[in-house]
Parts: sequence; structure tokens; C-alpha cells
Amino acid sequence: MRKTVLVVDDEKLIRWSLGNKLTSWGYDVGTAENVKDACEALSEHAYDLILLDIKLPDGSGIDVLRRVNAITPDTAVIMITAEGTVETAVQAMKLGAYDYVSKPFNLDEMRLVIEKALEKADMKKNLDYFKAHKKADIIKNRIIGESRAFRRVLELVNKVATSPSATVLLSGESGTGKNIIAREIHNRSDRAERPFVTIECSTMPENLIESELFGHEKGAFTDARSIKKGLFELANTGTVLVDEIGDLPLVMQSKLLRAIDERRFKRVGGVIDYDIDVRIIAATNIDLEIAVEQKRFRRDLFFRLNVVPVQLPPLRERGNDVILLAEFFMQEFNRQFNKDFKAISDDAKTLMLDYHWPGNIRELRNAVERAVLLESENEIRPEHLILKPMTETQTAGYEKPDRTLDDNLSLDEVEAKMIKRALAMSGGNQSKAAQILGVSRDVLRYRMKKYGIGKDSVNNGT
Ligand SMILES: Nc1ncnc2c1ncn2[C@@H]1O[C@H](COP(=O)(O)OP(=O)(O)OP(=O)(O)O)[C@@H](O)[C@H]1O
Ligand SMILES: [Mg+2]
Repeated sequence: MRKTVLVVDDEKLIRWSLGNKLTSWGYDVGTAENVKDACEALSEHAYDLILLDIKLPDGSGIDVLRRVNAITPDTAVIMITAEGTVETAVQAMKLGAYDYVSKPFNLDEMRLVIEKALEKADMKKNLDYFKAHKKADIIKNRIIGESRAFRRVLELVNKVATSPSATVLLSGESGTGKNIIAREIHNRSDRAERPFVTIECSTMPENLIESELFGHEKGAFTDARSIKKGLFELANTGTVLVDEIGDLPLVMQSKLLRAIDERRFKRVGGVIDYDIDVRIIAATNIDLEIAVEQKRFRRDLFFRLNVVPVQLPPLRERGNDVILLAEFFMQEFNRQFNKDFKAISDDAKTLMLDYHWPGNIRELRNAVERAVLLESENEIRPEHLILKPMTETQTAGYEKPDRTLDDNLSLDEVEAKMIKRALAMSGGNQSKAAQILGVSRDVLRYRMKKYGIGKDSVNNGT
């Protein structure tokens, strides 16, 4: 992201030459020739840095500096001094200016001072962030899973991690690991050492969402007694996880879309545009496409977010991962509760493999936690696992997980299995089964013949 610099000097030649140089060094440049113009420019854009002449026709650079401190305190200021103004420069440093350069200046020196000031400003911003988030978690995840379905997720995670600005849409049932995967994408990216901020759309009171996201100016509304930075501003240069994005009210959806598209935003009650450079990861456990159809979610925002869709498979489709996860959690809670569980019994494993896990990994983790905490043996057995019985609708729509799919079935065998299953689901109706599989009825018939599947296989769906 290009940094923005404002050059404030009454000498046209200086504005012109500095402006050209700064542009060639890769900065976006604005200019102003007096205090009034400078203040106007400042109220339109939050600059990263200001080169500020002390002697201006309608006042002193110090006035501009005060203004900066009041409205965009993160902006770095470098004073430009002429003969006889060095003392003022010292005063300016006390007021928070980063440095000063004397006229006539050398451009190489100027460049160095600018880079140093921007670096310091960045460090200060990060420090502010970490102060605000004391337990700024440098959490290292342990992510477990080897199933084919989950490996596909991890491959995608690796891919998007290397493109540090790509927007990601994570979807999946509750407890499938959306938060942990979002964190992992951040951790593996170039932004790893930058802030990771989560916006919880579902728990935020509607009237506060906008100021939580974008911050507010002093006096923006009755309770706004001071300036508040929004989560986007705090996350700048890092990653924002917009969690349960389906719960975001429609008005906020358009504001979010605008911020993402323009890569800038205004604080509530403010007029200044702030640039943002963040990666957006959105997470949802509802089907956003359906929400779009029902006009509860903006189509344009959905398309904007759906750049890299990552679908987290439910636990019941991850085959043996359920055992790996259970063993991992068993060790975790052994340490936490000072217990010594050594194994999971075979029939407990079978139970875990067959159960439908509506609460997914969170439910599994809780079940293991409970067993390790309350039981005093050293083996987890079926009676230790308190699992919710399946409701009727769940049983109807749910087939026992197909463990063999992760084994070395040939493609033909998998296809035969899918056909049998579709037939079972359609109650033997071939047109319906063909629809489920997304093939024509002729193709289905042909393949049924090829695999020797008769109409009698209807009740033998697995
Ligand atoms: N692959 C995994 N390996 C280890 N732990 C995992 C894995 N996936 C999820 N977990 C753990 O399972 C729990 C639930 O995960 P997480 O909170 O990320 O799910 P979620 O999809 O965000 O759920 P919700 O939709 O309810 O917010 C967490 O404790 C998380 O650490
Ligand atoms: Mg979550």
C-alpha cells in the first residue's frame, strides 16, 4: 500500500521538486502552500506523513502540527526549518514532530529522514495496538486432520496464505474450525506479525456496529466523549476476521462493501478518509447464497467476499480424523487436569466414527474434556461419552459416515457406492437419483448396468 505524504511549503519550487521526488520514490503526494490549505487537506485525508515548513504566509507550521495532533495523531510530522527557526523546530519536537530538516536540504538525507519517521510511526501504531490488546495472542495453533476432505482445506489455506491480500470466505457448520483456520491463514501469511482482529457480528449491538468497525470522532453521538479507533483501524496492515457475517444488518453490509472496495473509510461523525490495508476473512455457518436469494444478504457483497471460498467439511465427513482429534484432546486435557488417560477403547472409537457430531469438533472436544475430567480410569470408553441422541430429522437425512471412502477404494467402486446411495435416497426413483448425482437418466442407467446395480439395491443403500 502506498504511503501518503503532504508537503506544506509556501515556496512553489520546493513543493514541485519535493513532490516529484516523493512520487518517484513511490509515495502518493499532496501539497499545500499555507496553514489554511494544509488544514483543509488534513481534514480530507489521513496522511501517513507531513513535511511541514515552519514559516508559512498565514501563520506557523506549529499551528498545523497542533491540528495534526488533534485529528490524526498517528501522522508523522517532519519540520522544515530555515535560518532562524531552529528553536521553533525544537519546540515542534516537543509537540511530537519526529524530526526536522534544515533548508537547503539534500534529497538523499530527506529520503532517509522520511523513511525513518514512517518506520517509527508504524512501530508506534503497532505498540498502540498491542497495548490496547494486552494479550495480543501470538497463538500457535495445533491443527489436526489427515482426511482427504480436510487436506483439501489445508492445501487451500497454504495457497491463500501466500497471497496476503486475497479475501477469503470460510463456511461450515458450527464447530468445524472456522476461527482456528482463519487464524492459521493469518499466521502463515506475511501479515503474521501484524494484528489479527475479530469482528463478532452476531454479538454486537446493532447501533454500535458502525462505530465498533470504523471508530468515531469526538461528539459523533451523545456517548462519544472522545475519539475512538475502530477495529479496522486497529487491524491496519493485518487481518480482519468478520465472524458470522450473515448476521450483519443490511445497512452495515453496504458500508462494509464500500470500505472493502475503496480500501478506505471514515469514522462515524468524521470527514477524514482513512486508508486501510487489511486482509478480510469472512466466516459464516449459514449458506450465504440462500441468504442472498432471501434478500437478507447483499449479492454484491457476497461476490466481493467469495473470492476464495473455503468450505470446512463437517466432522462426520472427515473419517478417521475424529480419532486423531479425540486423542489430541485427550492429551491436552490430561495435561490440564493432571490425568493419565492412555487410550480410547475400540468400541468408543466405533461410537465416535458412527456418531453424526452436530456440534462438530467443539462437541467432540467437550465430550473428551468431560470424560477426562470426570472419569478416573485410563481408557476412554463408550459410556464416558455423553452424546446427544440423533433427532428424527437428523436420522432421516443422515447416513452412517462412509469410513471406507478414505480407504483405497477405486474410482469405480466410489462411483458405484454413490449411485447406490442416491438410489436409496430417492427411494428407487431413477430420475430423482440422476438429479441428485447431476447426471442424465441415461447415464445413470448405463452406469447401473456397468456396475451391476439392480433395482433391488434400493434398500441396500450403503
Ligand atoms: N482441525 C482442528 N484441529 C484441532 N482443533 C480444532 C480443529 N478444528 C477445530 N478445532 C477446535 O474446535 C473448537 C471449535 O473450533 P472453531 O471455534 O474454530 O469453530 P467455528 O467453526 O468457528 O465454530 P462456530 O461456527 O460455532 O463459531 C475450537 O476449540 C478449535 O480450537
Ligand atoms: Mg467461530
